[in-house]
Amino acid sequence: MNILFMGPPGAGKGTQAEAIVNEFGIPHVSTGDAFRLAIKQGTPVGLKAKEYIDQGLLVPDDVTVGIVRERLQQSDCEKGFLLDGFPRTLSQAEALEQLLGELNRKLTNVINLKVDRNKLLARLTGRRICKSCGSTYHVIFNPPKQEGVCDKCGGELYQRSDDNEESVGTRLDEYINKTAPLLQFYNEKGLLREIDGEQEIDTVTKEIVSLLRG
Ligand code: AP5
Ligand code: MG
Ligand code: ZN
Repeated sequence: MNILFMGPPGAGKGTQAEAIVNEFGIPHVSTGDAFRLAIKQGTPVGLKAKEYIDQGLLVPDDVTVGIVRERLQQSDCEKGFLLDGFPRTLSQAEALEQLLGELNRKLTNVINLKVDRNKLLARLTGRRICKSCGSTYHVIFNPPKQEGVCDKCGGELYQRSDDNEESVGTRLDEYINKTAPLLQFYNEKGLLREIDGEQEIDTVTKEIVSLLRG
C-alpha cells in the first residue's frame, strides 16, 4: 500500500494519517513533520526551511525532494508508506515518479480530502499539537480532556508558528496556485479518489479505511 494524502492546509491529512498508519501498520511520511523536526534540531535543512515555513511559502523543491528520497529508501517503507504533504508541485510529482520507478514501486491510492476554503482558517488557528508525541487536537472540534495537555501521553500542547492568520492566507494561496493542479495529474492516471473531509473525524477515517480495503 503506497498511499498519498492530498488536500489543502487543515483538510485533516495529519489527523487521518495518525489513524490510518495505526490501522495498516505503515509509516507516515510527512514533509511538514520532517521540516519541523529539522528546525527543532537546528540542522542546515531546518534553518533553510524555517525561512519559508513561517511565511507560509513552499520550501524549494530540491530541499524537499532530497528529504523524501532519503526517507522512502529506508527499510520500514518497504511494506508501504503514507505520504502526507508531498508532492506539492508538479516538479515534485515528477521527481516522485522517478524515485518510485527506481525503487520499483507505484502509488496505489491518492486520496483527496475535500474541505471548503472558508472552513480552513478556523481549523488551523484552533489547532494544537503535542510536543511529545505529535498528536493533533483542536480547541473546539477535537479538544483534549484537559486544556493544554495531551490525552495520549500527558505532553504539553503547542501551536504551530505558521498557524496564524497571515501565514495561513499565504499557505492557502500556495495550495491553490501550486498544489491543486496535481489533482488533475493524478486524476489522469486514474488514481485519484475524493473524500468529503467536512464530516466528523471518525466518519472520514471510516470512509478512508473502506476505500483502502476496497
Ligand atoms: P504541512 O505540515 O504539511 O502543513 P499543511 O499542508 O499546511 O497541512 P496541515 O498540516 O496544516 O493540515 P492537515 O491537513 O495535516 O490538517 P490536520 O489534520 O492537522 O506543511 C507545513 C509547511 O512545510 C508548508 O507550508 C511548507 O512551507 C512546508 N512544506 C511541507 N511539505 C512541503 C513540500 N512538499 N514542498 C514544499 N514545502 C513543503 O487538521 C487541522 C486541524 O483541523 C486540527 O486542529 C484538527 O484537529 C482539525 N480537524 C481535522 N479533521 C477535522 C474534521 N473532520 N472536522 C473538524 N476538525 C478537524
Ligand atoms: Mg499536517
Ligand atoms: Zn502526546
